[in-house]
Amino acid sequence: MGRTVRVKSFELAAKDINDVDVTLLHALSTGVGWPHRPKDWDFLRRAGHGIVAVDGIGRVFGSAMWFPHGHDFATIGLVITSPRTQAQGTGRWLMEQVFERCGDRNLTLNSTDAAYHLYLSLGFTREATVFQWQGEVVSPPPPVPALDGELSSLSAKNIEAIAALDERAFGTGRQRLLALLSEGASICLLRRGGETVGYSMKREFGRGHVIGPIVASNDCDAIHLTAVHLKDLAGRFARVDTREQTGLFADFLQQSRLGMIDTVTTMSKGRRFLNRKEDEPWVYGLAGHALS
Ligand SMILES: CC(C)(COP(=O)(O)OP(=O)(O)OC[C@H]1O[C@@H](n2cnc3c(N)ncnc32)[C@H](O)[C@@H]1OP(=O)(O)O)[C@@H](O)C(=O)NCCC(=O)NCCS
Repeated sequence: MGRTVRVKSFELAAKDINDVDVTLLHALSTGVGWPHRPKDWDFLRRAGHGIVAVDGIGRVFGSAMWFPHGHDFATIGLVITSPRTQAQGTGRWLMEQVFERCGDRNLTLNSTDAAYHLYLSLGFTREATVFQWQGEVVSPPPPVPALDGELSSLSAKNIEAIAALDERAFGTGRQRLLALLSEGASICLLRRGGETVGYSMKREFGRGHVIGPIVASNDCDAIHLTAVHLKDLAGRFARVDTREQTGLFADFLQQSRLGMIDTVTTMSKGRRFLNRKEDEPWVYGLAGHALS
């Protein structure tokens, strides 16, 4: 008789993500090599909604989250199934559960290679590539172009100062998320001619800090809004997720000696998500893969 037995079929049910212990979510993301700390899951649960796939004794085998903004839009993320149960239909089922809960909202997500065909088959279309730069920040930082305007720091209690600018860049108002992101973040503002023209946040996430969102109207502004945080992070781990593949901002990241370690694909279902216009504010750095 063999020393092991293959057990395949057991039933999973959807449960609200707030009803499970964070250690189970942490184990799930660690199991697929993601850097989220329990604190990051706690943050995401405050920022959005989610479900987990649990078995009869409460073990978590999958998750999916959505982050609604306004009345007709949401981002999707944290779609994970534990390696033991992959390729058995759980990922597709989780997404169908999310669709049911999001109704007719326009949706966007950043897909890993592993999930790309699943999302295509669920009606998502490809929009852009996101480049994940990360590593230990070297000192001194690369040279920056001349600054046009004034940089200052913004306190979280004045977060409404960036709401309108962010909405023009992101395409939908996300004030509640910005307020949550700003808690414990270091926020840099760029003003020119008395107007707010850019901002960036640095906050703890995963292995160190993420610099994002970074919102600016041109590469030079985005460089300054990133460099200011990199300076603070010398010798520590930082991450920037961007859709810039070429240009001064992409060159700056290259010169910063962070490594480009992975890419994901921005996809949407319903209305197109990305809509870049010349000289208009643009999201140079993502808040996170799940948050866009
Ligand atoms: C991506 C992921 C969520 C898919 O979950 P899953 O439970 O394996 O998904 P399903 O079993 O529903 O499979 C979905 C489709 O992908 C295909 N698929 C799944 N695993 C596959 C594999 N290893 N190779 C090729 N195709 C695969 C299935 O055939 C299925 O297609 P079908 O429904 O037409 O048959 C899971 O692989 C995962 O957690 N990966 C790591 C984390 C990740 O990348 N998450 C995505 C974030 S955007």
